This record gives sequence, C-alpha cells and structure tokens, in this order.
Amino acid sequence: MKIAVARETREGEARVAMVPELVGKLTGLGYDVVVEPGAGKHALIADEDFVAAGATVDAGAVEQADVLVAVQPPGTDVVRRLREGAATVSFLPTGQEPEVVTALRDARVTSFAMELVPRISRAQSMDALSSQALVSGYRCAIVAAGMLRRFFPLNMTAAGTVPPAEVVVLGAGVAGLQAIATAKRLGAVVKAYDVRAAAAEEIRSMGAQAIDLELDTLEGAGGYAREMTEERAALQMERLAPYVAAADALITTAAVPGRQAPLLVTSAMVEQMKPGSVVVDLAAETGGNVEGAVAGEVVRIGNAQVWGGRNVPSQMPGPASRLYAQNIVNIVTLMSADDGFAPDFEDEIVAGSCVTHDGAIRHEPTRTQIEGDALEGAN
Ligand code: NAI
Repeated sequence: MKIAVARETREGEARVAMVPELVGKLTGLGYDVVVEPGAGKHALIADEDFVAAGATVDAGAVEQADVLVAVQPPGTDVVRRLREGAATVSFLPTGQEPEVVTALRDARVTSFAMELVPRISRAQSMDALSSQALVSGYRCAIVAAGMLRRFFPLNMTAAGTVPPAEVVVLGAGVAGLQAIATAKRLGAVVKAYDVRAAAAEEIRSMGAQAIDLELDTLEGAGGYAREMTEERAALQMERLAPYVAAADALITTAAVPGRQAPLLVTSAMVEQMKPGSVVVDLAAETGGNVEGAVAGEVVRIGNAQVWGGRNVPSQMPGPASRLYAQNIVNIVTLMSADDGFAPDFEDEIVAGSCVTHDGAIRHEPTRTQIEGDALEGAN
C-alpha cells in the first residue's frame, strides 16, 4: 500500500506532512512512501533526503495513493486525481472548505481532519492543533521581542540599570502558555489572563503573574472556553484596559472552538499604549482578538505596531513539519492493521476525525451544514 506525501500548493504554506527522519516509521508499517517532487522544498528538505530515507519521489504520487497525507486540505483538482476509495489525512476546516468536502464525498474518498481528532489523553500524540500551537506560541513571543525596540530582560550594568519589558498575554492555552514561557526565558515580566478556571495555576506555573479581573471563569465542554456574553466582554475589556496600557508588548492568543476568535482588545485600548509598544495578534486570521489587526500585516494603531498572525506555524516550517509529521505517523499507525490501512470506525479517534467515507459526509455538523444548504438552495 502506498502513502503519498503531498506537495503543498496553497499560497504561503511552507510545511510538509512528512519528514525524512519519520519515513522509516511508515515503511516499518509496511507502506511504500511516495513523495511529490519538491514537497519538502520550502521546509528546506530535498527530494534526495526523502529518497535516502527509503521513499520514492514521483510526480504521479497522488494518482497512486492509497493514503494521501498533507498539511492543507487537498484542492478539488487533487481530489479529482485520487482513486475512488483512497484516503486523505490533513487539516480540513470543513466550515471553510465546503467545496473540498463535497468533492471528497463525491469522489468516494475517505477523509480525516486533523483538527477533529478528539482531545482525549489517548489522542495527545496525534493532536496537531497542539503541536502547531506550540510553534505559533513560541513564534509570537519571538516576533514581539524582535519588533520591540528595547530589551526584554532586566540589565544591571556599570552603565546603569535597564528595566525589563512588560509583556501581557491574553489567552493561555497551548499557544499562550508557550508565548509566556518564551517571553519569560527572554527575561520579560509577564502577566497573563485566560477565562478558564485552570488557567491561573498554569500561568503561575510558567513563572508569570495571573491577572485576576474578578470575573466568573468561563469553562465549556471538554475544558475549553465558552463564548462570552456581550456584558461579560465589555466588563473584561474595561478591567483589562489598564494592563494593556501598561504593556510594552501585548500578545493575544484567545480562541473559542467552533467560533470566531473573541474580540478582547478594542483599538481605543491599543491607543492607550506607550510609544514603541507592540501588539501580536495570533488570532488575526480567525476574526482577531485585537480590533484593527490584519492577518499577515503590520498596521499602526495609535502608538503601537500591530502584527497580525497568518499561518504562523508555517513561519518555522522545519520544526512545525517535524511535529506535524509525528502526529501523522501516530494517527496512521492507529489506522493500520497487518494488511495495511484499515481504519476501525468503532474507534472514537477514527470516528471523530472522519469527514467523508463511502460517498457520505460522516461528520454530522458538516453534513447538516452542506446538505442543509444544498436543500435550501433547491427550495
Ligand atoms: P484554544 O486555542 O481553543 O484557545 C486558546 C485559549 O484562549 C484558551 O486557553 C481559552 O480558554 C482562551 N480564551 C477563550 N476566550 C477567552 C477570553 N475571552 N479571554 C481570555 N482568554 C480566552 O485552546 P487550546 O490552546 O487549544 O487549548 C485550551 C485547553 O484545552 C488547554 O489548556 C487544555 O486544557 C485543553 N487541551 C487538551 C488537550 C488534550 O487533552 N489532548 C490538548 C490540548 C488542549
């Protein structure tokens, strides 16, 4: 059986779903690994490195695939090249990609979405949202440190004392905690806020100060955040405003699963920041935590330079690909039997991450959205 590794074609995507050092894990399971030419180019991996690891490089990889592994969802052109009954494993944000989901269904391709892997302990090694959030969180802190025209750490020298920078992090999930840890390692004074009950302790365990806004915590299903009411959002903004105004660097990473990112900081709040301040909004692509932030751009709001994140893991394609490829190896291993790729749909991880199978959309919310829309269109 053949596992094909896609060459990513979406603009700005530099990652690759497999790395040479993990090819042996797939061949060890009995697969032949076929890589599209140039698949690793933007992650600085040469075709020869894949060949040396036991893969073959072939422009017809997609057509031969039993399983296609990719970072971004396969384009509809790629879906058309797949065999009926082939499988794909990639990120697949179904809400944003209805045409791809429909094409996968109609081509009778079995597709799995990495972001739908349930967040249970057994699936942690397959959790690509977490592995990529780790990269983004680190990158955010480095971007903030790079843009700020002053030191992060305290410096006590013969020429005098330079006080440390003050960094405020909003949202302390996987990315936020990594941003906190990175800013702390660089010596900044870090304060952070998150709506989840467990977050304050996690923030303190990183050596940062947990901001207490004296508001109720907002915990939803599976330990994730819930959406705020308008009233709660207004109160949170009002109480966060002095922390934002005092920050040299503000890093925002807040998200609520299945929703637009919550707006946490208005442009009026940013306008209160000191000259030279920087804002890094990791959520810029999904609605933005900071009003006025633009994904992929640096804009000026008041005295601050505001950097909007766009496909941030792809900015460190080597390590991001390595971590993602390990997630892929782990999920493919779960779905493999002695005779090759044989996902057990009774398994909660397999069932949870499956989007299309056997000519049908298996993921219920996606099916309702797509087939409901189609019905409405027909009426
Ligand atoms: P995420 O990317 O969905 O959200 C990032 C953070 O934003 C979260 O911590 C959330 O509480 C916070 N947030 C949402 N609304 C906010 C608001 N209005 N103000 C401030 N902060 C706000 O979350 P992520 O990073 O994917 O994970 C969050 C939690 O999920 C983890 O800390 C952990 O408890 C759990 N988790 C469990 C895993 C597992 O069991 N396999 C793996 C990863 C995470």
